Amino acid sequence: MSEKILLRHEDVAGLRRLDKYVEDGGYATARRVLSELQPEQVIEEVKLSGLRGRGGAGFPTGMKWGFLPKDNPKPRYLLVNADESEPGTFKDRQIIEHNPHLLLESTLIAAFAIQSHKAYIYIRGEFAHGAKVLEEAVREAVAAGHLGSNIYGSGFDLDIVVHRGAGAYICGEETGLIESLEGKRAYPRVKPPFPAVYGVFGSPTIVNNVETLCCVRPIMERGPAWFKAIGPEKSPGPKLYCLSGHVERPGVFELPMGTSLREIIYEHGGGIRGGKKVKAVIPGGSSVPVLTADEIDINMDFDAVAAAGSLMGSCGIIVMDEDTCMVRALRIIARFYHHESCGQCTPCREGTGWLERLLIGLEDGGATERDLDLLLQVAENMMGNTVCVLADAAAMPTKSFVTKFRAEFEEHLRMGGCPQKLAAASAVRASA
Ligand SMILES: Cc1cc2nc3c(=O)[nH]c(=O)nc-3n(C[C@H](O)[C@H](O)[C@H](O)COP(=O)(O)O)c2cc1C
Repeated sequence: MSEKILLRHEDVAGLRRLDKYVEDGGYATARRVLSELQPEQVIEEVKLSGLRGRGGAGFPTGMKWGFLPKDNPKPRYLLVNADESEPGTFKDRQIIEHNPHLLLESTLIAAFAIQSHKAYIYIRGEFAHGAKVLEEAVREAVAAGHLGSNIYGSGFDLDIVVHRGAGAYICGEETGLIESLEGKRAYPRVKPPFPAVYGVFGSPTIVNNVETLCCVRPIMERGPAWFKAIGPEKSPGPKLYCLSGHVERPGVFELPMGTSLREIIYEHGGGIRGGKKVKAVIPGGSSVPVLTADEIDINMDFDAVAAAGSLMGSCGIIVMDEDTCMVRALRIIARFYHHESCGQCTPCREGTGWLERLLIGLEDGGATERDLDLLLQVAENMMGNTVCVLADAAAMPTKSFVTKFRAEFEEHLRMGGCPQKLAAASAVRASA
């Protein structure tokens, strides 16, 4: 798939500006949809396309929209999840910073489909530049009549508000996001009720990821059959793959869903830095189980990655070369989740701290014989016992790192610390 859909700004210079976006055919699809279609028809087309959410869980988008209660008189809300805080994930910001009108047009079409007159783009605090770009794009779109009242004379009204978070991972979890938007601490809510029934301000609410929504305009422009024909039938469409770590060419690549992980690393990413060997790959952001070098011959789509024992998540592919210390890598991951746990649930608040402390002992020395099994036990007890899955996000990599690289963890235990660090320290001593 050489034509760029989501990263079209890489082919068309200046697409960030409204005049250029319109010159490139922008807002024509929204105009047609609002003028010629009924909301239910849009939901039906999105269902037919097979679009699945790009925020992490891969839930079918049209089906989610269909969950909105028909008999609830309260206003409906559309929340655009632009929190993008999973380590290794940096795709949504590409669209936000370089092609903001694609997001606004898609949001307009989605809001029309679910009959919401107010949409919030919840953007993480650190994306200050992205927030400015979006605010400017909203101003341009309102001035040109693409947003506001009676859009294109259709009678449909939509306000889009760009809301900046204060920068916390948990605000990406949809109910944490909702609480935060309401001005409260971002403690995730118990589900059910799901946001479609009881969301922001107690109203029916749809939360969708930036990339998910940006598939909506192309689907409505080119038709669901076009979208469904890209990649595997049950997991179709163009996909943004974030590639980072020890590769020659890190970056965001737009490829058909289901592209092989090996192809992404070796063809698009130029292979492992310095001609080294790959040791491990995290395929979906730091919260998912790690794959070994022998496990990278898989197709990157929701079902194939799950069948291989991991998850596609937010599609943050992190590559580790043969020199990577897996204990240190896991310690860094554990530190992140410990820092970001909101503290609402005891297994997560305490468990993430236990994971980090045990890993510090393994890397720096001081761990005891039972600590490896304790690490696994703590991880096991965290899973499925909390309001949201942040605890699982810390436990899943832990279980997979320790299980798949157990010999390396045992070596740390035997040596009383990281063998690489100990060797470096003794080399320094010898040369002194
Ligand atoms: C701890 C945690 C953090 C999350 N962070 C994000 C995020 O930064 N961006 C995002 O789109 N979804 C994130 N999600 C997933 C959202 O809860 C939600 O499923 C998603 O926004 C739904 O959109 P989609 O159906 O378009 O994928 C996170 C989930 C969890 C449990």
